[in-house]
Amino acid sequence: MNQRVIPLADERQLARRPAIPSDRPTPDGRLADRRGRQVRDLRISVTDRCNFRCVYCMPKSVFDQDYAFLPRNALLSFEEITRIARLFAAHGVRKIRLTGGEPLLRRNLEDLIAQLAALPDMEVTLTTNGVLLPRKARALKAAGLARVTVSLDALDDAIFRAMNDVDVPVADVLAGIAAADAAGLGPIKINMVVKRGLNDSEILPMARHFRGSGHILRFIEFMDVGSSNGWRMDDVVPSAEVIRRIGAEFPLEATDPNYTGEVAERWRYVDGGGEIGVISSVTQAFCSTCTRARLSTEGRLYTCLFAQSGHDLRPLLREGCSDEELSAAIGAIWQDRNDRYSELRTAATADLRKIEMSYIGG
Ligand code: GTP
Ligand code: 5AD
Ligand code: SF4
Ligand code: SF4
Repeated sequence: MNQRVIPLADERQLARRPAIPSDRPTPDGRLADRRGRQVRDLRISVTDRCNFRCVYCMPKSVFDQDYAFLPRNALLSFEEITRIARLFAAHGVRKIRLTGGEPLLRRNLEDLIAQLAALPDMEVTLTTNGVLLPRKARALKAAGLARVTVSLDALDDAIFRAMNDVDVPVADVLAGIAAADAAGLGPIKINMVVKRGLNDSEILPMARHFRGSGHILRFIEFMDVGSSNGWRMDDVVPSAEVIRRIGAEFPLEATDPNYTGEVAERWRYVDGGGEIGVISSVTQAFCSTCTRARLSTEGRLYTCLFAQSGHDLRPLLREGCSDEELSAAIGAIWQDRNDRYSELRTAATADLRKIEMSYIGG
């Protein structure tokens, strides 16, 4: 039997069963936390598994064949997910993002998308590594998916293969992007996590490649999510440096956010070549406008990407709670929320045992 300490398994023990308050926050579409932030986005992880082993997310040394992924009966069913999403919608959520792990590994995901897209006034989006898109893009679109974000960390095959660590070539992801585009899942955003010394040499090649393509390339500062990616401040390439490097070749100008609380800061090529974005959780925290709730694969609600524990909604779902009770529990959790991890980040907080990104989604 495997006796190793498994960080995620430890974290799972910490989840709390939420209380059902008697003074129930009535859903009025404006549920606010202790810092006055309303809940607007729900990010739902539909599987903790992935067909990649990105070195900054699921390093093989931890996520190997002995790793304890969730058993099938631990996963929320599509009906359970949709029920929670519906209650969140009543509290004000207008956007759902499906994540993983790799969400396209979840069987019949289109069925879930169809259920979620049927919620009134709801945009359903998805973040994927892209390799399954050639097979699935059309069905996803038909089910009601609005658009996709595809992760791609390099254009150079050797660098990309070293980062995904399962030998997937760049061409497979580019084929996925093309399939999503053809299926009408645009505007497509491309997420590139930048880690100094690993792929920062790819910043310019990626910018050149996606300029003029209509796709929006976003550079993400390498973050200290989870407890297994060995994060160090020295590995972070500040977004200001990314903008400087690209701007030296193609002049850029800052442009207004699409909506308050947008995670990416937008920049536009002055010559009309389109736009790029930078996501600067480390050098310019955006907690003050954070409207995101996260639901894990097994039904734990997390109020921050860097949370150390979650609130276990699954027993409430499976032990016959009414919608009112579940809604009240969700409302009370959000009202009690005070998270602002990125604003408080230090070298010491990086060592906290936080929930893994592959379990909670990005
Ligand atoms: P759209 O604006 O709808 O396209 O979504 P988005 O900008 O939120 O895009 P996405 O969900 O792909 O977020 C991009 C990346 O930003 C994520 O994959 C994370 O790496 C990071 N990110 C998103 N939300 C947060 C957050 O709340 N905190 C931190 N620190 N990082 C986040
Ligand atoms: N730092 C920044 N971004 C990360 N992602 C995964 N791990 C990290 C990390 N440590 C990104 C992925 C994907 C999204 C879900 O989050 O590349 O685009
Ligand atoms: Fe999988 Fe995405 Fe994590 Fe890479 S970053 S291992 S593709 S979940
Ligand atoms: Fe939101 Fe937490 Fe990210 Fe801050 S660190 S933006 S509170 S998820």
